[in-house]
Amino acid sequence: MAASDLIIPRHIAIVMDGNGRWAKKRFLPRIAGHRQGVESLSACVKACMERGVGVLTVFAFSSENWNRPSDEVSGLMDLLVLALAKQVPRLNANGVQLHFIGDRQRLSTKVQAGLQDAEINTAGNQRLIFNVCFNYGGRWDIAQAAQKLASRGEAITEQSLDQAMALAHVPDPDLLIRTGGELRISNFMLWQAAYSELYFSDKLWPDFDAATLDEAIAAYSARERRFGKTSAQLATRGIAIPNENTA
Ligand code: IPE
Ligand code: IPE
Ligand code: MG
Repeated sequence: MAASDLIIPRHIAIVMDGNGRWAKKRFLPRIAGHRQGVESLSACVKACMERGVGVLTVFAFSSENWNRPSDEVSGLMDLLVLALAKQVPRLNANGVQLHFIGDRQRLSTKVQAGLQDAEINTAGNQRLIFNVCFNYGGRWDIAQAAQKLASRGEAITEQSLDQAMALAHVPDPDLLIRTGGELRISNFMLWQAAYSELYFSDKLWPDFDAATLDEAIAAYSARERRFGKTSAQLATRGIAIPNENTA
């Protein structure tokens, strides 16, 4: 397929897995893998912008990652603060609108303030919406959305829940990538990934590059998204309409 025929996903979501194994292979501490993972992420943001992807959502720290050894958890918190200081000015200059998705209550006040500042400073940007899921779990999101509706006395419907989700500001992901070779979702986007195309890569996240992203996009582009319909129904409408998740 010629590059111009590629269907570019409007929203790509990524479970960035494999940092620890990348470090272990090099006899380095796990945190060195996480540090390299930030570099990969930075390159991935750039590659997404160059390819015209509108929304990128990444899983950076799960609700369950608190169960890791405390030095790794504190190392990841420090890395978040460092990454904010180093990357946010550059992201801002490149037109990236940042959102942090997840339960912030358990984060230190310093981290919470950093997240809020980054969001406020980049709120007017339009080139790429970049959601970083931190202390995030799909179950947490569904529960907090339901709680929000219950506290307002609102009916719980698919539509009202969808609107109360922490990711209500973006369409559902078209393509969900997981690196690191594991074939599971690990509590990521349980609600929003209902019709996402899944792509699993054996690449460890620090080794993820633009070529791997292109492989994932090419695989996505070759899929037929049926949303419950038959192939024949799609054919009678011409070609399948990419990213259509209604009707
Ligand atoms: C993903 O890499 C990053 C986080 C979960 C924070 P891992 O740290 O899970 O790396 P592996 O799976 O142990 O290789
Ligand atoms: C998923 O990776 C979470 C993130 C990438 C942040 P994990 O490495 O925590 O997933 P499991 O525990 O192997 O399922
Ligand atoms: Mg892992």
